Amino acid sequence: MKIVVLDGHTLNSGDLSWETLEALGTCTVYPRTPAAETVARAEGAEIVLTNKTILGQAEIERLAALRYIGVLATGYNVVDVEAATERGITVTNVPAYGTDSVVQMVFAHLMNLTLHVGQHAQAVAEGRWSRSEDFCFWDYPLIELSDMTMGIVGLGRIGQAVARAASAFGMRVLAYDPLLGSGSAGDPPEGVEPVDLDRLFRESDVVTLHCPLTPDTERLVDERRLRQMKPTAYLINTGRGPLVDEAALAEALNANRLAGAGVDVLSTEPPPADNPLIGAKNCHITPHIAWATQAARRRLLDTAVKNIKAFLAGNPQNVVNR
Ligand code: NAI
Repeated sequence: MKIVVLDGHTLNSGDLSWETLEALGTCTVYPRTPAAETVARAEGAEIVLTNKTILGQAEIERLAALRYIGVLATGYNVVDVEAATERGITVTNVPAYGTDSVVQMVFAHLMNLTLHVGQHAQAVAEGRWSRSEDFCFWDYPLIELSDMTMGIVGLGRIGQAVARAASAFGMRVLAYDPLLGSGSAGDPPEGVEPVDLDRLFRESDVVTLHCPLTPDTERLVDERRLRQMKPTAYLINTGRGPLVDEAALAEALNANRLAGAGVDVLSTEPPPADNPLIGAKNCHITPHIAWATQAARRRLLDTAVKNIKAFLAGNPQNVVNR
């Protein structure tokens, strides 16, 4: 059995082991694969794993031996699932491996926006405390979470876990999800007030995005939504970059119409140097790492291997073919 991992570097740059995967066949792991080399590298493989390397119709049509594509992520938009289905190729993903890690990143950004831990620590390292006249100093307003209202857009696995953490901090929690109250998603978790998007954007002190990227949610946060927000409010995006109109967000921040933003995802990754959010006022950007704690990556790899074993046993799991 020939197994090819097209872009293993971000999942495992050396702190995890490929052994369980290697036990399943002849396994080649490429750190990254340029688009032009995808077909040559995957040629003859029955099993191909990809994280962000595109397997479109053109590639799939040329890979005659291919029987299985394992996506090393939850989002599987890098694979043309329809083309794979037509060829009888099973496509799987890895859901839910990173929920706790994403929640942690949401609160890392929120804590940073409300207390500026990194910037204050930097000021101390530069000698500001030693030169201070007083026993303490702060450069930014310090804000207590329990005084804040959080608005959650998308109350799925991550949104619900964020809601629980926000409640534990004593925050008021509002949420919008089209499935809320429809019966299929059931009632909102305790303490969560379901509202429409207008109320959510107007009343929240922090809005956090946890809906998937779809044609409906693309640029969900545009100039109109940003103008609905309080000038003291924050936006946190750990969902997907294109959920936000980045130029409109940069403008709102630079014009003090919004107090700050914490962003883990951008519309193009890696971003071009002139992305308008890079350098925007009080905009803190992390390089798409909410998913990447070692614990979450280990769970991801474990599930990816279990997915292959289940497929080989004739009982595939986490299949995304429609
Ligand atoms: P999920 O599928 O459990 O929840 C998504 C929720 O969004 C569902 O309840 C759905 O009804 C809701 N939704 C759908 N359309 C909506 C709309 N128009 N407005 C508001 N809500 C809508 O997904 P999960 O596991 O909670 O993940 C959410 C997103 O987080 C993923 O789609 C992914 O893009 C992102 N993510 C980011 C990571 C990172 O490293 N930054 C890591 C993992 C996920």
